[in-house]
Amino acid sequence: MATSKKTAVSHPDCECVLLTEAQIRRRVKSLGRQLKKIYGQDEFTVVAIMNGAILFTADLLRQVDNPVRLDCIRISSYGSGTESHGVPKLIHGLTLDIAGRHVLIVDDILDTGKTLSLLSDMIRGLRPASLRVCVLLDKKGRRQVPFEADLVGFEIPDKFVVGYGLDFAERYRNLTNIGVLKPARQKP
Ligand code: IMP
Ligand code: MG
Repeated sequence: MATSKKTAVSHPDCECVLLTEAQIRRRVKSLGRQLKKIYGQDEFTVVAIMNGAILFTADLLRQVDNPVRLDCIRISSYGSGTESHGVPKLIHGLTLDIAGRHVLIVDDILDTGKTLSLLSDMIRGLRPASLRVCVLLDKKGRRQVPFEADLVGFEIPDKFVVGYGLDFAERYRNLTNIGVLKPARQKP
C-alpha cells in the first residue's frame, strides 16, 4: 500500500541527513512558542545574519504574531572554506534604530562563537532594552570564545553541515533538510 510518509533523501554531496525537514519544522514551531513566552505581546526587533539565517528567520518569524521589526546584517567569517579565517568582518550593518528596543539576534549556527560575541558586544553598545540570541544549530565543541545563545534549536556534533540556509561556498542553502557535507566536497 502506498504511504505518504517521506523518507529523508540525502543530497549526493552529503554523507547523511542530520536533521530532516520535519524535525526542523517541529523545532522551529517550539522555538516560536519560546519566543511568545519571552516576549508576550511585546514588539521586538530581529537582527538576522545574512545569508545563512534567512530561511530560518523567515520560518521562525511566521510562528509569532507579535509586532516584529526585521533588520538584516552581513558578516563575513568564512570566505569559501570550512574554517573561520580570523576576525569576523561586518560587511553590511544595521539600518534600524536599536536603542531602547528588545533585540533578538538570529543566526544559523554558533560555531567558534567569534561572530556572535562580536555582534552582541556591538549591539549592546547601542543600548537596547534587552538582547537575546537565537541560533538554529550549536556546535558546542568548537567554541574558541565563550558564548551561549539564549535559544538553541539543535546541538550538533563537530561536522560541516549544509542546507536550510547553511552553505559551502554559497551552495546548498536551498536544501530542505540539513546534511553533513562529504569531506571530498569540502574543497573550494
Ligand atoms: P563562528 O563565528 O565561528 O561562530 O561562525 C559562525 C558562522 O560560520 C555561521 O554563521 C556560519 O555562516 C558559518 N559556519 C560555521 N559552521 C558551519 C557549518 O557547519 N556549515 C556552514 N556554515 C558554518
Ligand atoms: Mg552565517
